[in-house]
Amino acid sequence: MNIIVCDNYSELSKTAAGIVAEAISGKKTCLGLATGSTPEGMYDCLAELYESGKCDFSGVVTFNLDEYYPISPDHPQSYRYYMNRRLFNRVNINKSNTHIPFGLAPDPELECAEYERQIAGAGGIDLQVLGVGANGHIGFNEPGDELMPLTHLTELSKSTIKANSRFFETVDEMPKKAITMGIKTILTSRRIVVLVSGAVKHEALKKLFEGKITASWPITFLNLHNDVTLICDRGAYNGTS
Ligand code: GLP
Repeated sequence: MNIIVCDNYSELSKTAAGIVAEAISGKKTCLGLATGSTPEGMYDCLAELYESGKCDFSGVVTFNLDEYYPISPDHPQSYRYYMNRRLFNRVNINKSNTHIPFGLAPDPELECAEYERQIAGAGGIDLQVLGVGANGHIGFNEPGDELMPLTHLTELSKSTIKANSRFFETVDEMPKKAITMGIKTILTSRRIVVLVSGAVKHEALKKLFEGKITASWPITFLNLHNDVTLICDRGAYNGTS
């Protein structure tokens, strides 16, 4: 694993954007994208790079890791809304090349199977950007006794509901389920870049560095992949804020 420790969040964001910009430059690229607060700075940097003519999204196809369920794509807390606002509306990407699980799919199982089919049809993911939950989740693969390999509908854990309900007006408004890529979907990406910021994520990083694999800490499954770049700030790396 290639580990890059940045002095602060802004350096982390710039470093991540540089890697993505280089990966997409001049070629057709299939990008896996993440939401949450961690990649926000990276998306700002990518929009700036695009404005200054330093990156081009015209040949880019994207697949997001996950989406709440049920949620309307127009809901301000949906990941579709997030991606449009933070990246897609700011760069020259063809929106029909952007994929996010449909939060109102009438048949979620079918939606999940179709999502897998679309990823395979696009030739697989070249570069997957990943964040991590404080409880070690990747995408919405929550800690538990078992993990699912492929895209599936999942119940969110109590700790994730607590952590993410801050974005909703009330806890009741927050969906309790999500559609997420599975562990195998993520690990099948050719390259993975993980962004980790803040002391609250230190425990998850510690588990990753221990090198063992356990469903109690889904992030540890990244130890199975041979092309992972971890970009973290000092808070996450040292556990101090
Ligand atoms: C969210 C997303 C994850 C994200 C994680 C961390 O709920 N489903 O893909 O990586 O939780 O979020 P944050 O970056 O806000 O800490």
